Amino acid sequence: MPEAQLTQEEAGVPNPDALFSQSHDEYTRTRFTGTLLAHAMMNLRFKVWDEYERDVKPAFMREHGRAPSNGKEILDALHDNTFFQVYSSFRYNAQEMGPQSVIPAIERAAPAFNDAVREAISHNTTKGTLRLNPDMTFPKYMTGLDAHLTPGGYWSERAPDDVSQAMILQGRRISGPNANTKRDFSMVGVSVGTYLKRHYTDFKPRRVLDMATQEGKNLFAYGKLFPGVELHGADIAAPSLRYGHAKAIHDGVDVHFSQQNCEQTDFPDGYFDLIVSSFFLHEISVQATRNVLKECYRLLAPGGIVAHMELPPHKSSPDLLNATFDWDSRYNNEPFYSAFRSQDYTALLTEAGFDASKAFELEVPDVNVFSPEQYEQFLKGEIKAPPHGRGGWFIFGARK
Ligand SMILES: C[S@@+](CC[C@H](N)C(=O)[O-])C[C@H]1O[C@@H](n2cnc3c(N)ncnc32)[C@H](O)[C@@H]1O
Repeated sequence: MPEAQLTQEEAGVPNPDALFSQSHDEYTRTRFTGTLLAHAMMNLRFKVWDEYERDVKPAFMREHGRAPSNGKEILDALHDNTFFQVYSSFRYNAQEMGPQSVIPAIERAAPAFNDAVREAISHNTTKGTLRLNPDMTFPKYMTGLDAHLTPGGYWSERAPDDVSQAMILQGRRISGPNANTKRDFSMVGVSVGTYLKRHYTDFKPRRVLDMATQEGKNLFAYGKLFPGVELHGADIAAPSLRYGHAKAIHDGVDVHFSQQNCEQTDFPDGYFDLIVSSFFLHEISVQATRNVLKECYRLLAPGGIVAHMELPPHKSSPDLLNATFDWDSRYNNEPFYSAFRSQDYTALLTEAGFDASKAFELEVPDVNVFSPEQYEQFLKGEIKAPPHGRGGWFIFGARK
């Protein structure tokens, strides 16, 4: 068989995911915790809302002579409600047990994982690169707690060239078909990229940067949507970058990964036409967000676009939804969620240098939920996208 027809495995590029193997009980545990978490997040929360309307709000009104006036007051009022406590307990424990359920399999496979990633990198047939910074100083917002109750957070390394932390973060996803939930978060990149391409019809980016790219799952879409665009993914944590680089090599995609604090990167001024991020800014302090937005302004060429997919701000969400989102700030090791959501995102953009008249804040449809006809209607402003996390994704950003 000629070389060009060899699969990546046959060409000597191993797929690190293929090394992940759980026992029957481990796999069942992973499925159970994933399903429980999804059930709590997608279903039980509405029961909490029912409890709130039926019992909690009337009790609050009897005591204060008025209804709760914001999400924080609702969350405070829910605190002693038995159903809310059950919901919180399910969510917290399912969240915590998820990584615990994959850690034994990852500990067994870690040496082979690390070898497979080294092997993939040594067989790099793509134009992609990996730049790591062994002297990286991690901000306190990263090292001060285990993000999402995942032991080791994003950044921990236990051996030279270690990817085990990346595997722990990926664990549920790779543990089996639909082991986590049926939701595919890599659709964020496809959905945001599709919107940008369809809305800004003149826009032809030469280089895109995905900030806080982790292993790059939301970056890859841009290569398909904008053929020929140069793909860059920056993240502060090395394990997922190594893993992402190996996966990109395995999949034959050219990606430039680099380990950088996105508050201040080493890319030249105006280097990018498109800067995106997803699930990033709510994880860092508000001051760090200000720094990141200033960095976006510096890195964008004139006419370039920045689009961050994020949680919608308090001001555009109903109070009950704010209480639901801000649950994470109190109970899920997401201390910046609430502070971030209380900001005026367009004001943050203008403070960073962007022109408010070219800024946007909107929900875009997940490409899986709208038919082509509905998408046309959405683009014409005739219908709105579904709410964030329920068929739509909230984005904010600006054109420079
Ligand atoms: C929730 S993950 C988001 C991953 C990815 N963007 C996605 O869509 O799934 C947050 C990421 O932010 C990264 N991160 C946190 N602070 C950072 C910083 N200052 N600079 C670069 N990356 C950072 C973490 O290492 C982690 O990979």
